[in-house]
Amino acid sequence: MARSLIRKEVIPFLMMFSSLIVSTMIIDSLLHQFELVWIGRYLGIPGTILILLSFFYSMHKHKIIQFGKPKDMLILHETFTWIGALMILVHAGIHIYAILPWLALIAMLINVISGMTGKYLLARSRLFLAEKKTVYLQQGLSEEIVEKKLFWDATTFELMKKWRAVHLPISMAFAVLGITHILSIFLFWEWI
Ligand code: HEM
Ligand code: HEM
Repeated sequence: MARSLIRKEVIPFLMMFSSLIVSTMIIDSLLHQFELVWIGRYLGIPGTILILLSFFYSMHKHKIIQFGKPKDMLILHETFTWIGALMILVHAGIHIYAILPWLALIAMLINVISGMTGKYLLARSRLFLAEKKTVYLQQGLSEEIVEKKLFWDATTFELMKKWRAVHLPISMAFAVLGITHILSIFLFWEWI
């Protein structure tokens, strides 16, 4: 049991997070080697856009948009936040001129770690709900509807509710710090 927990949850989690950090270091050193560090300065923009696009998942969940399957939309959320976070980490570089953007960066990293934890908690909730599948199928629901129902059931499971109570405030803190940094840069560039 403990061994399968490490293999199925702890190792993939560590891989997902460490690959983010290692990729940042590789891209950062390549940019330095080819004297393209200025690109990093602009990577904040596509990075932010990708994180915003990742909220298609939330929009789907709250029925603001209808297209896509919930599972695919969640994969989109996980992938876009991972790539967006990578761009923003490269964007941040390794020097410190201002505190506020670094606080935003720390909030983003806590968010990423929390999101990755949520991914495994969700997989676990789905396991707990496995027997519900038989009940739904007995009710004569189609495979596709059952898949959707099980997905949303897993997100409202007690474990996920507790996780969300932590994850949402962290997301808010990230949003406030990130927006303040972006607005102050736009002011500096005289865009607003
Ligand atoms: C539209 C999006 C963004 C734009 C246009 C932008 C722009 C900039 C610019 C121009 C700088 C350079 C400031 C300087 O050299 O003094 C900078 C630095 C930085 N930005 Fe952003 N940024 C964006 C998004 C973000 C986000 C979302 C985060 C964090 C999660 C972030 C974190 C940082 C950090 C950590 C630095 C380094 C500060 C330092 O050198 O002390 N940026 N940003
Ligand atoms: C910048 C980073 C991130 C931010 C700001 C963020 C934000 C959010 C928010 C606000 C939600 C709640 C959605 C809703 O209930 O409407 C959410 C859910 C979720 N996120 Fe993220 N997230 C980030 C990164 C990640 C990453 C890297 C992963 C996994 C690899 C991830 C996995 C999840 C999962 C599994 C859920 C739960 C789905 C649910 O309960 O409906 N997130 N995220």
